[in-house]
Amino acid sequence: MSERTPYLAANWKMQKTVEETEDFLDRFLGNIGDLQDTDIAICPPFTSLVAAVERCRRSPVRIAAQNMHEADSGAFTGEISASMLTSIGVEAVVLGHSERRAIFAETDEALALKVVAALRADLQPILCVGESLEERSDGVTEDVLRRQLEAALEQVEASQLGSIVIAYEPVWAIGTGKTASPEQAEEAIGFARSVVAEKDSESAARIRILYGGSVKPDNAEELLRREEIDGALVGGASLDPADFLAICEAGS
Ligand code: PGA
Repeated sequence: MSERTPYLAANWKMQKTVEETEDFLDRFLGNIGDLQDTDIAICPPFTSLVAAVERCRRSPVRIAAQNMHEADSGAFTGEISASMLTSIGVEAVVLGHSERRAIFAETDEALALKVVAALRADLQPILCVGESLEERSDGVTEDVLRRQLEAALEQVEASQLGSIVIAYEPVWAIGTGKTASPEQAEEAIGFARSVVAEKDSESAARIRILYGGSVKPDNAEELLRREEIDGALVGGASLDPADFLAICEAGS
């Protein structure tokens, strides 16, 4: 780990009702007292955001949405805007998760608009990038990361780059139990940082770049110990308060 403040985010995906959200938070928040200088974000589904913001009000935990639309309002049935999220106290938003890219056909172009819309609304983007297994086997991991990062960050002012959080999530490691090795994760994250540095080297030194993909309590420490890896975006293992707490402790 570097001098950058560690950032641990729980991506619940389409899981947990309001009641389950409150139950998780009651158990999780009671045990985070020892976590010093660590940024923690919980990303529940839209229906649990209000309850989660309410429960975390007097805690250091920030609440993030899992997606948003780039427009501020309009005829976009089923969508939610950045200002709607900030109006209920949401502070961050996951953008470009590989499930959204693959299942919901989210494009680099739409993402570029979402990143600037989030920043404009004062929502911290947690921007996900990562290669598929085929792309890794073909040796084009860096090309993919460069394309995704350059597209998503194209319209971001250099002065705002440092406040974004990037999550490097190799698609082949998400939900599969196959974690990238600490070396693979560190190499890809180092490369991602170099792409940011081409835009602004000061922001590249500040920006937090997380690893995501089958992070569990038993592999978190070896990943999070690495200089380049500033934290984790955790799916499956973040659904259990004790497991997510153990991962936060490994990162803090
Ligand atoms: P996982 O998911 O930890 O279950 O692999 C990570 C993610 O999709 O963000």
